Amino acid sequence: MANTVLVGLQWGDEGKGKIIDVLTENTKVVVRFQGGNNAGHTVEIGEDKYVLHLLPSGMLRQETFNIIGNGLVVDLKALKEEIEMLLAGGISLEGRLLVSNRAHIISACHRSMDGMSEIILGDNKIGTTKRGIGPAYADKINRCGLRMADLIDIENFKRKFIDQAKAYNEIFVRAGLDALDYDKELAELLPVVEFLKPMICDTTQFINDEIAKGENILFEGAQGTWLDVDFGTYPFVTSSNTTSGGACTGTGVSPRHINHVMGIVKAYTTRVGEGPFMTELFDEDGAELARVGHEFGATTGRPRRCGWLDAVATRSAVDINGADQLTLTKLDVLDGFKTIKICTAYELDGKIHKTMPLELNRIGEVTPIYEELPGWESSTEEVRAFDQLPINAQKYVRRIEELLNSTVKIISVGPKRAQTFTL
Ligand code: GDP
Ligand code: IMO
Ligand code: MG
Repeated sequence: MANTVLVGLQWGDEGKGKIIDVLTENTKVVVRFQGGNNAGHTVEIGEDKYVLHLLPSGMLRQETFNIIGNGLVVDLKALKEEIEMLLAGGISLEGRLLVSNRAHIISACHRSMDGMSEIILGDNKIGTTKRGIGPAYADKINRCGLRMADLIDIENFKRKFIDQAKAYNEIFVRAGLDALDYDKELAELLPVVEFLKPMICDTTQFINDEIAKGENILFEGAQGTWLDVDFGTYPFVTSSNTTSGGACTGTGVSPRHINHVMGIVKAYTTRVGEGPFMTELFDEDGAELARVGHEFGATTGRPRRCGWLDAVATRSAVDINGADQLTLTKLDVLDGFKTIKICTAYELDGKIHKTMPLELNRIGEVTPIYEELPGWESSTEEVRAFDQLPINAQKYVRRIEELLNSTVKIISVGPKRAQTFTL
């Protein structure tokens, strides 16, 4: 093992949580570097199922340290609730969770603003998780955000919190919405602040010290490449850099210390929320992927849109992230299909594109060109080695490696820890 960044190569929900949990068997430190509680990372251990939104997926292994890096936006109440959920499950936290003093805070104003922006956008809405992610990052970039460091001196926090709420209330009142009752909100927040305060520290120093000691760091990406604010299907994206570069800016670790980038690829494609989806299916196959894959959002419960694997977009994602290793998840979901398709090119105005077309705003108009592969029509759920896979499943994996120009290292054939094997 070495310092590895794990990122989604599609639109999120590739199975990052499960794979982080599997990999933390050999890792001491797991770090989230971007996003917030818009993420929903599922980890199944035995009969228990945990969905983590803000906490790194290493939390479930008692011997790991888990870090919420500077690149995140943190909803204080949501963080406390999630910690309490783990405590109720008998998982101890003692000194194992650190939150960066540079991470930004999501407030009730940001959540309201997120909801309001979606209403104003109407038919053009992004389909956000309404967790206040975009407005909190907007304030960060606009240099008027509150950070975890602001919680250290409580009087300072109260003052800044009220100033921020007053500024937002001007907007809310003009829009005909209720103003935030900031005294009430503050009263609710103060015990939360006291609860979280002991976890706030200079996580950048902590991680760099661990690297110097030779410990392995696992950087846990949230969302996926096509939701990245720079590289994704803008404006239908989230508001952070979900790609591997974000691991450095979101933690304060130099690119010199990153050894590997593991790209997580679902064996087909899903997307939740609005925006272009080049291989989206509206037929029986799409419904079957959703049904067998249980494709409902882990955060909002919304049905996920489903389609075949898009090798054009995913190949580009491999390049953007520099993914030298791949994990292929949910291969078992394809077990029942007679024929499986992979999109190998797009057609737009009669022109064939093997890479992402220049006309970014028209990406939703492309016609996918598919290669058909025979299915294997048998269960892979009990398979624990590559050569035990049905031959057509092996061929599917090898074809994916060829098209994506990277190497599959891990295959996942079910949600449980044991349903995983390495190549
Ligand atoms: P994440 O956001 O990338 O962590 O992924 P989610 O947790 O949102 O969604 C992945 C879903 O698929 C979860 O319900 C997982 O338990 C489940 N899952 C993960 N890997 C596999 C797999 O290989 N096969 C099946 N059938 N389910 C999986
Ligand atoms: P994980 O980490 C899938 C999507 C939302 C919406 C867009 C913007 O579980 O893979 P936001 O609330 O971030 O402003 O919403 O991004 N989105 C996700 N889709 N998985 C996620 O996280 C997502 N986090 C945000 O649905 O389309
Ligand atoms: Mg998810």
